[in-house]
Amino acid sequence: MTLAHGHVSVSNPLPYTPEVAQETAGLYAKVARVIPSIEWPRFAPTIARINRLKAERHAVILAHNYQTPEIFHCVADFVGDSLQLAQEAAKTDAPVIVQAGVHFMAETSKILCPDKTVLIPSLEAGCSLASSITGADVRLLRQRYPGLPIVTYVNTSAEVKAESDICCTSSNAVAVVESIAAERGVDTVIMIPDEFLAKNVALQTPVKIISWAGHCEVHERFSAQDIRDFRKGNPGAIVLAHPECPPEVIAEADFAGSTSAMINYVGTKRPSRVVMVTECSMSDNVSVHYPDVEFLRPCNLCPHMKRITLDGILNALETMTHEVKVDPETGARARVAIERMLRVTAKPAKAA
Ligand code: 13P
Ligand code: SF4
Repeated sequence: MTLAHGHVSVSNPLPYTPEVAQETAGLYAKVARVIPSIEWPRFAPTIARINRLKAERHAVILAHNYQTPEIFHCVADFVGDSLQLAQEAAKTDAPVIVQAGVHFMAETSKILCPDKTVLIPSLEAGCSLASSITGADVRLLRQRYPGLPIVTYVNTSAEVKAESDICCTSSNAVAVVESIAAERGVDTVIMIPDEFLAKNVALQTPVKIISWAGHCEVHERFSAQDIRDFRKGNPGAIVLAHPECPPEVIAEADFAGSTSAMINYVGTKRPSRVVMVTECSMSDNVSVHYPDVEFLRPCNLCPHMKRITLDGILNALETMTHEVKVDPETGARARVAIERMLRVTAKPAKAA
């Protein structure tokens, strides 16, 4: 059996004692708008235990913007988009990193911190983009297009990154494409594996882009008609979309950007009604900070992100599993591509 917000098993719950209630009262005040009070006694003891254990283990929890509110707001040390989480991993002093995100994010942390222990609460937290391409595919692309640089979205395995010239995320893709094209003196680059991100980037730069046919299973399901229907039913709503959506969806949106860019849009422009055309937890997490903004919620769940739960995080810290390992030689090559990307952009991470 699961609860609506956290996918947490209700068998053998930890006791919700008066001490736990007191210890977590400040955290509940923060999330009360998005977590019903009836659910809090199930979450609070696990949150309290995670926060104690995290201090004992000198661990940090890096959480992606798609994590559920009880993770995002109550146990994470740093939250952000893929770029911000990679930047934070690159600079943390903590010996243990718990990645509340999908496997490629944990692998990126391990590549940047080969001497640290990187834990992922579920080994099943994959990504349809990461599984759309292999290292062998990238070697074939190089043979087919000799001399063209390969820009690889971070949503890929270490093996794929190792075969690439430079990585990118949705927040820096245009800058990365333009910088590597200028550096290599070429007018065309290969951009893998997200076809829609590549097409959306191609609309913003004179650099020509050869793409791969990978898709995000969450964002590919949105259609331009969805957005038009939505606008008809909700006049005046501002539509923000993630660049993993098909280009015709982006064309219907008011703004497109990475998960953190969408959050910044809400924070700076304060639209009275907004829809985030992306994963569902985004609106829950952001609405906590902006009670004056009405969040309309046509969204899709990422089944991989939702494999990360409070119970899984607690288990990771108690048992120090599942440790993410990357072959050192592959990791060293992948690290060159990630660090080259990090030099192109330097957007600061945000403390949770
Ligand atoms: P961001 O880098 O924008 O957070 O995107 C990561 C992701 O997996 C989106 O689907
Ligand atoms: Fe991968 Fe899409 Fe899930 Fe992001 S939302 S982790 S791109 S499947």
